[in-house]
Amino acid sequence: MSSLQFKGRDIVSIEDFSREEIDYILKSSQAMEQFAAKGSDMLKGKILVNLFFEPSTRTRLSFEAAMLKLGGSTIGFAEAEIASVRKGENLADTIRTVENYADIIALRHPLEGAAKLAAEFSKVPVLNAGSGAEEHPTQAFMDLYTLQKEKGKIDGLKIALVGDLRYGRTVHSLAYALSLYNIELYLISPETLRMRHEVIRAIKNKISIIEDTNLENIIPQIDVLYVTRIQKERFPDLAEYAKVKGAYRIDLKTLQKAKKDMIILHPLPRIDEIAAEVDSTPQARYFQQVWNGIVVRMALLALVLGAVK
Ligand code: CP
Repeated sequence: MSSLQFKGRDIVSIEDFSREEIDYILKSSQAMEQFAAKGSDMLKGKILVNLFFEPSTRTRLSFEAAMLKLGGSTIGFAEAEIASVRKGENLADTIRTVENYADIIALRHPLEGAAKLAAEFSKVPVLNAGSGAEEHPTQAFMDLYTLQKEKGKIDGLKIALVGDLRYGRTVHSLAYALSLYNIELYLISPETLRMRHEVIRAIKNKISIIEDTNLENIIPQIDVLYVTRIQKERFPDLAEYAKVKGAYRIDLKTLQKAKKDMIILHPLPRIDEIAAEVDSTPQARYFQQVWNGIVVRMALLALVLGAVK
């Protein structure tokens, strides 16, 4: 039994979690692997409401699958168009309505700060399933779990985050979390898509950071290549997107220079930043990462709803 408190907590930002708490979540996720395979009724009678105001495949469906595998139920919507926001309802009123139907809410919203606002209004815990370009904390937990599972450790790794570090929310949450570990972080992006200043400010005194625009130079040294999509939908000016589109492409030639045991992760969806020919290499672990999303979200639901301690 742990003295750490998860029951009733919101998961808005990964910055709200200590290393001890994150390590405990990773351990709880490992314990969930058996229930992901055989099922459980530990959340019987509990209802997850998914409020997705932005498109999603993995996050929404894995939250649903996680809840179902633990014996609970899910309701919700997958696009804002069919909800009463279309009639002008604000987020606060939506939350004060939905909390009557829910034991827990997962919210994806295009606006930064939306999850924090929802948590302030909600009587039930709110899980941030992606808040604009700001954060995606549950993705970071699954990314860390994947590192632990695939590499056997997180401390000591040389990890490169590649692509859109400005608008990509997963890399913001992941960078905050990785700053609690003893790692070297390489931030590889076009000049205009460098990691946000507030993230750099928060992590720079905790870990070694190397910022560069050139991926080829660093490939031979790194243990983990975390590739991201250029987030076209978040560019205020599509002419700017056109300048950086296709900036990085991982293919078999890229891998020739990499360590044999380097692994490639990607939060997905992917567009063209990883060539399909890479999928069948031992380095490609992004579809294993998808599976890990279920067990991690099972653990988060069970901890926050108090079914496990
Ligand atoms: N990784 C991720 O958030 O994927 P979706 O947008 O499909 O949920």
